[in-house]
Amino acid sequence: MSILSVQNINLARGGLKILDNLSLEAQAGHVTSVIGPNGAGKTTIFNVISGFMRPDSGAVVYDGRNVTSMLPEKLCNMGLARTFQRVRGLPSLSVRDNIVVGALNRTSSVRQAKKEADALIEELDLGEYRDQSATSLSIGTRKIVEVARVLSTGPNVVLLDEVMGGLGPSEVNIMVEFIRKLPERGIAVLLVEHHMEAVMSVSDHIVVINRGRNLAEGTPTEVAQDPGVIEAYLGSEASNA
Ligand SMILES: Nc1ncnc2c1ncn2[C@@H]1O[C@H](COP(=O)(O)OP(=O)(O)OP(=O)(O)O)[C@@H](O)[C@H]1O
Ligand SMILES: [Mg+2]
Repeated sequence: MSILSVQNINLARGGLKILDNLSLEAQAGHVTSVIGPNGAGKTTIFNVISGFMRPDSGAVVYDGRNVTSMLPEKLCNMGLARTFQRVRGLPSLSVRDNIVVGALNRTSSVRQAKKEADALIEELDLGEYRDQSATSLSIGTRKIVEVARVLSTGPNVVLLDEVMGGLGPSEVNIMVEFIRKLPERGIAVLLVEHHMEAVMSVSDHIVVINRGRNLAEGTPTEVAQDPGVIEAYLGSEASNA
């Protein structure tokens, strides 16, 4: 059974249909990626799943419960957490304290929260930035901190929205290795990412969307060979190749 089932979501704003009967599933122990061209609705579906936007119809079912339009904080406490495409975080706090705050979501022990923060700092190779304020970091490093912060909340489902944008090649490698290991902890990962090499190497399943609609889905190999996907997603890039 899927830990997260997103069923027939419709959402319009200002008379424009942004999500059109969109459905997807995420499984515990799997990385599911959502890909599609700019403006396809990827961030919007994340907003719906994580409670930041209310759909006009359709349902978000998490762990067997209908959680459609539940408040983001509540969902986070229930184990459904996300990153933001534009990094938020707490800029005045140090890297370590940003992560400690996340960990305090599930433990009231500051000592335990610090321990968990330090483990994530180690895993994501953030040691040299530990005491720096988040504002002093490059965008790439801030994205890695954002991932650590979200993971520190102890999620069952984690939604990662373009966490590799702005990362250098070695940082992408660290992130890919980290994401690859998340399913071992029983976490269901839902990933939105334009970095195709990373998507192909890390995903168990890929859902392709275009103009707010489901276009195709399957394994990375299946999706990469789908003519509809090649046309919609790779566009002129592919036809020029
Ligand atoms: N609150 C809103 N009001 C009106 N239009 C919106 C709103 N949020 C998103 N949109 C529009 O919905 C469409 C989908 O946007 P969304 O940000 O979900 O795309 P995306 O797939 O995440 O794109 P990208 O890859 O560029 O991040 C876009 O045309 C966007 O302009
Ligand atoms: Mg987006």
